[in-house]
Amino acid sequence: MTLTEKVESRPRPLVAGNWKMNGLKSALGEALAVDKALAAEVSPIGAEVMICPPATLIMVMAELVGEGSVTVGAQDCHCAVSGANTGDISAEMLADAGASAVIVGHSERRADHRETDRLVREKARAAHRAGMQAIVCVGETIGQRQADLTLEVVARQIAGSLPDDATADNTIVAYEPVWAIGTGLTPLVADVADVHAMIRQRLCERFGEAGIAMRVLYGGSVKAANAAELMAVENVDGALVGGASLKAADFLGIIEVYRTQTVP
Ligand code: PGA
Repeated sequence: MTLTEKVESRPRPLVAGNWKMNGLKSALGEALAVDKALAAEVSPIGAEVMICPPATLIMVMAELVGEGSVTVGAQDCHCAVSGANTGDISAEMLADAGASAVIVGHSERRADHRETDRLVREKARAAHRAGMQAIVCVGETIGQRQADLTLEVVARQIAGSLPDDATADNTIVAYEPVWAIGTGLTPLVADVADVHAMIRQRLCERFGEAGIAMRVLYGGSVKAANAAELMAVENVDGALVGGASLKAADFLGIIEVYRTQTVP
């Protein structure tokens, strides 16, 4: 199946850039360059494009790209609406700043801030409460993969991290093997296919029709050189991109695969 045929039978894919703790005001030009390049396309890109900058840049980036081709997301939120939580940011605040989505449960937050499935689920619920989409991340560590626990671990994360109110409109899943993030390593295409098939099955069992339509992204060392191959995998509905989303040219190279006619 070509990527074009695949895309036609699925919900609109999403290519989301996760800038992590990178980017000062001087980096806003990269987001603007992506927006401008997409707006100038004669043949439209068959994917939604999002950038999730650090919280400090959300408002100004959202104003810059306006109603253009790029939407703006956030990288984390607190579960509460407001309160005595110094340094935290609520989902409502992110939405107020112009974010339409928020990444929750990224492995860096699970590892560095000891975030549990339960907390991630609460954060996803907070995103929904604020009218935003939750991009819920799951993925195994290298130790878990070597111990052949990948499917078990990811299934447990899916069960525990997704709230009951998840729909295809308000929730996006991102499968990101921890060992593939920022390392240049990627799983074999067959392994990506296995994990995504299992995720799809679990989503369908729990959410019925919504589980079929819910987008499941792949993330972990996605770059222009491997994007076509990874995005063509069944049940892969886009990408969550870290390092290669920081520069407009790199990010556009990935987005470009959604205009490619044929894929191996
Ligand atoms: P990477 O990061 O593309 O730099 O591997 C992906 C992510 O952590 O979302």
